[in-house]
Amino acid sequence: MEKRRILVTSALPYANGAIHLGHLVEYIQTDIWVRFQRMQGHEVHYVCADDTHGTPVMLRAEQEGITAEALIARMHEEHRRDFSGFHVEFDNYYSTHSPENRELSYEFYRRLDAAGLIEKRAIEQYFDPVKNMFLPDRFIKGECPRCHAKDQYGDACEACGTTYSPTDLVNPYSAISGATPVRRQSEHFFFKLGKCTEFLKRWTRSPGTLQTEAANKLDEWFRAGLADWDISRDAPYFGFEIPGAPGKYFYVWLDAPVGYFASFRNLCEERGIDFESFTDAVKSKDHNTEMIHFIGKDILYFHALFWPAMLDSAKFRTPNHIYAHGFLTVNGEKMSKSRGTFITAESYLKQGLNPDWLRYYYAAKLNSTMEDIDLSFEDFIARVNSDLVGKFVNILSRASGFIVRHFDGQLLEPRPEAVGSSVEWAATFRAISAADEAKEAYEAREFGKGIRAVMRHADRINELFDAAKPWDLAKNSDPAARAQLHSVCSDCVTAFKILTYALAPILPVTALRVAKLLQLPVPLKWDHMDRFSSKISPYQHLMTRIDRKQIDALVEANRQSMQPTPAAHSPQRHAEHQIRVEEKVEIAPTIGIDDFGKVDLRVARIVNAEHVDGADKLLKLTLDLGGESRTVFAGIKSAYDPETLKGRLTVMVANLAPRKMKFGVSEGMVLAASGDGPGLFLLSLDSGAQPGMRIK
Ligand code: 2FM
Ligand code: ZN
Repeated sequence: MEKRRILVTSALPYANGAIHLGHLVEYIQTDIWVRFQRMQGHEVHYVCADDTHGTPVMLRAEQEGITAEALIARMHEEHRRDFSGFHVEFDNYYSTHSPENRELSYEFYRRLDAAGLIEKRAIEQYFDPVKNMFLPDRFIKGECPRCHAKDQYGDACEACGTTYSPTDLVNPYSAISGATPVRRQSEHFFFKLGKCTEFLKRWTRSPGTLQTEAANKLDEWFRAGLADWDISRDAPYFGFEIPGAPGKYFYVWLDAPVGYFASFRNLCEERGIDFESFTDAVKSKDHNTEMIHFIGKDILYFHALFWPAMLDSAKFRTPNHIYAHGFLTVNGEKMSKSRGTFITAESYLKQGLNPDWLRYYYAAKLNSTMEDIDLSFEDFIARVNSDLVGKFVNILSRASGFIVRHFDGQLLEPRPEAVGSSVEWAATFRAISAADEAKEAYEAREFGKGIRAVMRHADRINELFDAAKPWDLAKNSDPAARAQLHSVCSDCVTAFKILTYALAPILPVTALRVAKLLQLPVPLKWDHMDRFSSKISPYQHLMTRIDRKQIDALVEANRQSMQPTPAAHSPQRHAEHQIRVEEKVEIAPTIGIDDFGKVDLRVARIVNAEHVDGADKLLKLTLDLGGESRTVFAGIKSAYDPETLKGRLTVMVANLAPRKMKFGVSEGMVLAASGDGPGLFLLSLDSGAQPGMRIK
């Protein structure tokens, strides 16, 4: 067997939201495939990252009163925790807001520009005059021009399904400020995708690159003609500024796929892997390396057109395969917050549900097509309880007891020549053929088919076990009966072991438990499944059944009322909110502008924040004032975890006389709001502000 060398990716999740069960379809699918390839002895590098840039991240950070950097740092930890909770094992989980990604994005841009594929021209777009920013389509709302449903997004109507452009909306308003948007011109950068048409046609039609449904979709797009792609956005924007173009940023989708390379480069540096042998157009051919992207069908356009066009034009390698999957529905419907079926990864784990249950269920449903998959709770409970536990785990729990009690944990080696003596020998050898079937299925991402092969055989083993009536044999002291008991149970355990290898990519933790009981060498290798293992330790519980109450509790925990979130302002809500705030203010005696002018307020970046030994209320902050560093002790410990403060911008009084305190000298003061109730709220800045700027 020739050893494959593969770079594998899953799509980069946005850094402005939690991981939910819909996301997990893809990560579990990819992780299973990667684990399977590794078991075959192939070299696989599985990388991913947070997709950190763009308007939604910027706005959410603003809403939370923290910097985008602080927000993405927090989300990064949450995402990592959730993935590892489901045993999705990346070699590197990185960030698109990284030095490697900046450098690589610039490199792509330079090469595309040098190839004559970048063009600048002015376009007209909606601009929010209150918020002072151009509005992405999703942030413009208004009345649907067709059915007149209110509060529809700028790109499509959710009521009647019509798609249109934001300028078609009746009475448009900014979803951010509620203001009526105005049209304004701005210069944008475009990638001339149309010039890559010939290459893209060739690439999409090379066998195996795309699934048939995906290739058909591409044909439709080719027929419609490939338009230039707008790759720039105007400030304020959280992203990478375009070199030589102040105030212009790369559109998030330009640097997102480059993030695959950035994450991989970071890994290469850590592990001494040769980056270019996987990424350079020529070297990847010389080294015969592969690159495979797992994605959802909704982002096919980006991965099967823009990304390969960028790669080819910039002389990087192109993907060998794009594997797209469908969406997740729950109980046959779109995931819904009000029904409690928009379930976060965190809540699933918090309710104490076993991640291997979901891995098993998704695998049982997954195939190589782009069809949607449904998580039906009834079916989930049934498959886990009756198939996974009732058929598979059951084999070991029944057979191992006899081996441990009557034969001191010693297993008999199944021998083909003994088949004639009793039918039970058949189990082990048939298990191998079930595993062979599973192997072929996994390779083709037909996980459901693989599981069916394994479960069919689990049924067969249970039948053999029942037919041999080991409980009767165990009561019989006749040596022939004992020998048969020994051989039947050994055979079932050995066959079970083989099926465990076959399920190991899907059930990594359960497989490790079995490995411990049977003293199997880890990591488990596919080739080792037929090596005889002679001893079994006393049975320990491998997996419990799902209790329906757990699912009910999960749904309850995720059920949210239909109240709109603060992010979804309507203009009325916005105005109401402001009035309420104004009513509460008690104004201090009037001062002159000169009095105010004495206070030097500055933008400061919190570069470090830490607890102070022995101080109940204080945090020690290190502030950057644009080159100058200050230490400030702030009484905000009750409201902030120091980790979440690092990186954010805030406001400080920069000319306050230094104050000697018990714990050191405080060189200024940070400003925070507080009211009658609990809570302290540090000030934050709109994006674009820089440390050291004066506040007047
Ligand atoms: O659709 C999404 O969730 C994107 N964040 C996926 C990016 S994948 C890659 F191109 F970065
Ligand atoms: Zn409509």
